[in-house]
Amino acid sequence: MLVTSRHVTEYRAFLCLTDADLTARRLLDCSAGASGFAAAVNAAGGSVTAVDPAYGDLAALRAAVAASSSGADALIDAHSDAFTWDWYGSPAARQALRDEARAAFLADLAASPGTYVPGALPDLPLPDDAFDLAITSHLLFTWADVVVDTPGGSVPLDEAWHHAALLELLRVAPEVRVFPLVRQGDGAAVPFLPRLLDDLRAEGHGAELRRVAYEFQRGADRMLVLRRHAGINDTPVT
Ligand SMILES: C[S@@+](CC[C@H](N)C(=O)[O-])C[C@H]1O[C@@H](n2cnc3c(N)ncnc32)[C@H](O)[C@@H]1O
Repeated sequence: MLVTSRHVTEYRAFLCLTDADLTARRLLDCSAGASGFAAAVNAAGGSVTAVDPAYGDLAALRAAVAASSSGADALIDAHSDAFTWDWYGSPAARQALRDEARAAFLADLAASPGTYVPGALPDLPLPDDAFDLAITSHLLFTWADVVVDTPGGSVPLDEAWHHAALLELLRVAPEVRVFPLVRQGDGAAVPFLPRLLDDLRAEGHGAELRRVAYEFQRGADRMLVLRRHAGINDTPVT
């Protein structure tokens, strides 16, 4: 799995984040990667923590960030029919955003090291309710059913893992937003997503699929919004 670097403009679009979200809420970016988002929130004077297992080895992280540029494009090239360039305009425009995000992250990592906390779902090293909003981009659902290597051994990112990860995010924040909801590469649907949302609703949490003003993988134009103990909130997609 690559340590990718998305720009705050991308996060704002696919997670429906407003100016007030960035400056007035305590934010957690989990599976943050080379988080151009956290760098931008810090630059705007907001409150943000970024968590990723990759922050445990900063030398390896810097090498992984450098490698992520070409690696991500290879995945897109292998599934070119599964992507639309309407939002970005062109590969060059997307690359420019990534380059800017990567540079902002590396500068902020040096300037604000306390923002970047090593940790991994589904057990975050964070207290209950430390945040108002937790966001997670391009880990959950993206890598569904892939087996990943961790310091503790190989872990399948299966339905049980996703359930535990979402409950963990709801432990540290009353609102959680997740994008995208399809698998990497071909953008296939995640078979267990409907059942997982039913289970979370049965546990008393709000679970809403909300359409967003962003699409890159074709059909990946919805985010998941969870609200802790908000009751059943089966809002139809608009
Ligand atoms: C494809 S990158 C996405 C990075 C960033 N959110 C973005 O959108 O560009 C996936 C990230 O998830 C991190 N990751 C892997 N396993 C994780 C876990 N169990 N908990 C949190 N993050 C994890 C990886 O280190 C990697 O940085």
